[in-house]
Amino acid sequence: MTDMLDRLHADHVNIARLLDLVEEQCDLLHKGETVDARMLQDIFSYIAHHPDLYHHPSEDLLFEVLRRCDPSSIESVNALSLEHGTMTKAANEIVAMLSAFAGQAMVPRERLVGMLLDYIARSRRHMSFEESTVFPRARAIVSEQDWQAIERGIPHKEDPLFGSTVSEQYRALYRAIMRESRGQ
Ligand SMILES: [Fe+2]
Ligand SMILES: [Fe+2]
Repeated sequence: MTDMLDRLHADHVNIARLLDLVEEQCDLLHKGETVDARMLQDIFSYIAHHPDLYHHPSEDLLFEVLRRCDPSSIESVNALSLEHGTMTKAANEIVAMLSAFAGQAMVPRERLVGMLLDYIARSRRHMSFEESTVFPRARAIVSEQDWQAIERGIPHKEDPLFGSTVSEQYRALYRAIMRESRGQ
């Protein structure tokens, strides 16, 4: 049963779309132009409240199985698990920084740009390693019984941005994502 890998992959595609939007805003910030602070806040609020609470814990359950079934993967999945913690911490720091920025507090633009670019690079590298190395390995070696156990253990919650219903909070962000996908 590899439905779970398909869902994790779909999450990665969605997160990558958000990172592209963040990168565009970084470019504007860097040039001293007006940025959409609300959109950046929405993106990191979503990341802190959905992928960090549901995507990462799902992967952590898969990593536990990989540690048991494939000792050669222990080092790499341990590093990925640690990154889940540091990325969640970074996303929460960015949420706080963006809230100060939107509230006109003195936030050096270059510091904010540095934090955002660092997050983008880390997240892209992390997802790329999972896609290229960990997921194919899991697809090859995890037994049906283990997939079922993982599936029973994972936290489920409707995605408030990319799910079947977009929550009120993320409507503006959803429209920005749609504009981006149409190349406008
Ligand atoms: Fe991950
Ligand atoms: Fe992931």
